[in-house]
Amino acid sequence: MVTETSSSDIPKHVAVIMDGNGRWARARGLPRREGHRAGAESVREAVEACKELGIGYLTLYAFSSENWNRPRQEIEALMILLERFLKEKTPEMHKQNVRLHAIGRLDSLPDRCRNELRRAIEATSGNDGLNLILALSYGAREEITDAAKAIAEDVAAGRLTPDEIDRELFASYLYTSAFPDPDLLIRTSGELRLSNFLLWQISYAEIVITKKFWPDFRKADLHAAVEEYTSRQRRFGAI
Ligand code: FPP
Repeated sequence: MVTETSSSDIPKHVAVIMDGNGRWARARGLPRREGHRAGAESVREAVEACKELGIGYLTLYAFSSENWNRPRQEIEALMILLERFLKEKTPEMHKQNVRLHAIGRLDSLPDRCRNELRRAIEATSGNDGLNLILALSYGAREEITDAAKAIAEDVAAGRLTPDEIDRELFASYLYTSAFPDPDLLIRTSGELRLSNFLLWQISYAEIVITKKFWPDFRKADLHAAVEEYTSRQRRFGAI
């Protein structure tokens, strides 16, 4: 069992709370959707930086369960942006050997967006480079509730006994069952919150907060966050 590591190794999995698009736009007198549009460019920077560093998994919090409470126009703008991003960037992702995944309550997404997502996931499914995981209509409490419900159903149907439920089994019912837990969580725009993101999976992740708004986030910022991560000691609860 791992009790202590120097994290001088590159993180296997980086997760990002992309925050500050709205404030970035407001500071420029632009509508919020322009902040999201600029934020989509930063996604490309983050993907390239992960590829340069040899990171295996990058999870991006692109739309939370709570984001459904935003004004209808902003939700529509985000869904159109996502659809366009998937349509336009899939060939480039494919060329870069990126494999796309999505986690969240994807059934809630508009049909067009869901179809584009399915298409992009299928088109990149044979790639074995960076795994890019988009968290969409995602909330950690919803994910944990869904897992609990599925486990209860399996117990009720006699496929599982309560004694078999342990950490590993529970994790296998989460949306993220195919991925390792994030080693590094980055949040932009200086906020010190987890915002219902990967609450189970980030139990032992190192957290790096940067004051930059997401649309200003560049490759060098991801490199700097990884450098900070490698300078830390990870003890996983031991001394
Ligand atoms: C948070 O900023 C950001 C979001 C709610 C959406 C994130 C979406 C993108 C970066 C663009 C699209 C993504 C992809 C994958 C194409 P905020 O609006 O909460 O900013 P604020 O806190 O300053 O208001």
